[in-house]
Amino acid sequence: MLEAGKGAPVSGEAIASALGCSRTAVWKAITELKEAGYPIQAATRRGYLLAETSDILSAAGIRASLGEAAAGLTIEVFPSIDSTNAEARRRVAAAASASEIPFATILIAEEQTAGRGRRSKSFFSPAAGSLYVSFVLRPLGDTARTRMVTMAAAVAVCEAMAAFGAGVPEIKWVNDIYMEGKKVCGILTEAISDVESGGIEAIILGIGVNVNVPAEAFPAELRRAAGSITLAAGQRNAFAAALIRRVLARYAMPAADVVEAYRARSMMMGRQISVSEAGEERRAEVMGIGDDGSLLVRYADGGEAALLSVEITLL
Ligand code: BTN
Repeated sequence: MLEAGKGAPVSGEAIASALGCSRTAVWKAITELKEAGYPIQAATRRGYLLAETSDILSAAGIRASLGEAAAGLTIEVFPSIDSTNAEARRRVAAAASASEIPFATILIAEEQTAGRGRRSKSFFSPAAGSLYVSFVLRPLGDTARTRMVTMAAAVAVCEAMAAFGAGVPEIKWVNDIYMEGKKVCGILTEAISDVESGGIEAIILGIGVNVNVPAEAFPAELRRAAGSITLAAGQRNAFAAALIRRVLARYAMPAADVVEAYRARSMMMGRQISVSEAGEERRAEVMGIGDDGSLLVRYADGGEAALLSVEITLL
C-alpha cells in the first residue's frame, strides 16, 4: 500500500482495515520495514509516508506498478543470489512434471555473485542499483520462434528505457543494448529441453541492466566498453515493472512484429564487423536483419551469408 501511494501518506487505520489487523500490528510492520531500510515517515494524524525516492527493489513495489498486469505472475526479489538464471533453472528442475513448471515466474536480484553471460562468460553484477531479472516462460512452439525471444527482449528493454527517458538505446545484434557507444544491458536466453520428447520445456530469459553504475565502478577490463543507464532515485521498481510489461507483451507478439521493431532499434546496418567462426576472423559488412532474426552480411570477398549464432565484433 505504501509503494502504491509512494510520496503520499497512508493512514494506519486504512492499512489496518484493508489488512484486517490491528493498528499496533501495522505499527510493528512499519517498524520492521524501517529496520529493513525503507524511508518511512510517520506523519502525525496523517499516517505513514514512504519517501518518493525510496529505491529498494521489492515484489510489492513492482506489483504496485504493474497493477492488474501482475495477475498470474510470480515475482520474487532477492537481495543477493548466485544467478537469477541459475535460480530459474532450479525452479524448472524442481517441478515434478512439465505441467508443474511455474510459468511465468520472474526472479529479480539486487546483486548476483555468479552472474552469467553468453558463451560461458561471467556478467559483472554488483549491488549498485542495477537490475538482474530472469523470466521462466512457456515455450512458444517451434525453435525458430524461440530464437526470437532474445530479440523480443532486446526490443522490450529499449522500450522500457525510452519510456523512462533513459537515453536513446540501440541494439547490437543479437543480445546487447548500447547507449552512447557503451553496453548497458545484456540478455541471456536459455532453453530447457525435455530429453524424452526432444522439445523445449521452458525458456529462461535473463536480462541484466546496468543502472546508475559509475564508470569507475566497472572493473578495468570492462570500463571502456561498459556503460549504465541513469534512473532518478525511486524509479527502479517502476522501471522493473515497465520492463516486465514490455517483455511479456513483445514475447506474445508475432515474429514479424518483433523483427520490425528490432530492425528499427538496430545499430548494425552498414556497419563493418568481424565475424568469428570456427576460430577464424572474417571481415564483413552488415546488409540487414533477416525475417528469421539472422544477421545478413557480405564478406570482403563478396560472399553473402545469413548468420544465426556466431560471435561478432563491431569494427
Ligand atoms: C551477456 O551480456 O552476455 C548476457 C548477460 C545476461 C545477464 C543476465 S543478469 C540476469 C540473468 N542472470 C544471469 O546470471 N545472467 C542473466
